[in-house]
Amino acid sequence: MEKGILKISQISKIFISKYPVIAFFLILLFFHSSFVKSESYAVASRHHLATDIGMKVLEEGGNAIDAAVAVAFALAVVNPSAGNLGGGGFMLLHLAETKETLSIDYRERAPKKSFETMFQDNSGKVIKGLSLNSILASGVPGTVSGMFYASRKFGTIDIKSLINPSINLAKEGFALSDFQAKNLNKYKKKFSKNKEAKKIFTKTNGFSKGDILVQTNLASTLKRIAQNGEKEFYSGETAKKIADFFQINGGLLSLEDLNQFELRILDPVCGNYRVYTICSMAPPSSGGIALVQILNILENINLSEIGHNSKEYLKILISAMDYAYKDRAKYLGDPDYFKVPQDLLTSKKYANEIYKKIQEKKLPSKVNVNIIESEETTHFSIVDKWGNAVSNTYTLNTAYGSGIIPTGTGILMNNEMDDFSSKPGHPNAYGLVGSVANKIEPKKTPLSSMSPVIVFRDGKPYLITGSPGGSTIITSVLQEILNILDFQMSLEESSKKSRIHFQHLPDILFHEQLDDDLIEFLKKDKKLINRKLGEIHSILLRKDNIQAFSDKRRPDGKASTVYK
Ligand code: GLY
Repeated sequence: MEKGILKISQISKIFISKYPVIAFFLILLFFHSSFVKSESYAVASRHHLATDIGMKVLEEGGNAIDAAVAVAFALAVVNPSAGNLGGGGFMLLHLAETKETLSIDYRERAPKKSFETMFQDNSGKVIKGLSLNSILASGVPGTVSGMFYASRKFGTIDIKSLINPSINLAKEGFALSDFQAKNLNKYKKKFSKNKEAKKIFTKTNGFSKGDILVQTNLASTLKRIAQNGEKEFYSGETAKKIADFFQINGGLLSLEDLNQFELRILDPVCGNYRVYTICSMAPPSSGGIALVQILNILENINLSEIGHNSKEYLKILISAMDYAYKDRAKYLGDPDYFKVPQDLLTSKKYANEIYKKIQEKKLPSKVNVNIIESEETTHFSIVDKWGNAVSNTYTLNTAYGSGIIPTGTGILMNNEMDDFSSKPGHPNAYGLVGSVANKIEPKKTPLSSMSPVIVFRDGKPYLITGSPGGSTIITSVLQEILNILDFQMSLEESSKKSRIHFQHLPDILFHEQLDDDLIEFLKKDKKLINRKLGEIHSILLRKDNIQAFSDKRRPDGKASTVYK
């Protein structure tokens, strides 16, 4: 070997002395190619038009935060089931220059007049549907505040020009995909309960692929927001339209609530996993703590040795998920209202204790609960050529939120109040139960599962990822992380692997098609349900390449990269 190295260095010396000019250009080429690699950038999102808008911002010299703001406004138009102005979410971002990683919590807050038992009848029974489909279902939206803050603080481009493409898309319309047309038709009954939603989102004989969806009022609202800034949404004409609608229709959300909306800048929850650092959202999301807790447990085992989706692998995953979701139900809620034992839950010591219990097969006890609705939410990942990264997940909660549009605004309102625990032990739309930690209180934020993630290697962003999926977000993202970090898969390979989901309650193992022998094995002590899990939009920055991938579990997503 040494001989070989000597030979190469001798040959190089001879080459340089014989052909100095060629050698000079070859060396220059080598350094140039390493340098321009950092010129690469990428966007992965739920909708091709939003991804294209984000890429254009990056191409024209905007940074990842500029692109994120443009993508978020675009998704509010082209992905109305989850993209939003009337909802909220979390933006996790890494700033290359200062090496800072921070998060913006712009999730909804409970209206000031909300109270613990607001979804219960006089006998204390939870009234079905009230937290999901009624005027009481909405929290105070934070998206507009979140995007303006991100742009003001970290962006480089005037926000007006980031909103403009979305105004055009809303005004001129865009062509519905087959999936979107069918999805709108599926929710016709929900839209029909609200005058404006019915007008925009229903069609007598149903929508078809290629129909143009025009949202005139949304275009006007976006135009006013671009012109007047975020105050338009929180105290201007738009705020008044929203508040008046809620007051007239027996809602709690008021102009004062909108005036007083405040986002929070939170330190992300970070944990070390093998040679990587994983950062995600702190409470009011359960994502960061649950992910770090599960990864700490799994670190006790060499997963690549036991094999991906092997019996042993699935068993340990299910057990770790079981403990993490049990703790979620008991200990997690808005940290301004409940002291979350974050240090304990994310400690290696605690994870090792759980690992021992798992080996002794001591699983937490459980009773069953039901899951009522399917999930929505949307995630996008962005990196720019300077190495800034954005991982953003935001939502209206279930598809199209409450289905309610305050007259004249074109804004679909969220039904995020369902993410609170309507009553201790009562399951929400995702079958998640909660305790006093997540009870309803004025101005409090409901507990979330949204888990935008940035994984670091050697201090630099390595994997930017996230997913929709309600309670299944955490486990979908977890399996993406394991596939990439432990099994060295490409993003495309990873997305093709079957995922599982277990959340303590209900005592059901959700899975994507697993092999028959695995199903037989798991069936012995679990009820199994086959369903799609998650929709990941990731960017992976390996040494010699940049990958971006949008999960094909749903159509319409697009990942674009420019690799220089
Ligand atoms: N609304 C779903 C979540 O925040 O987890």
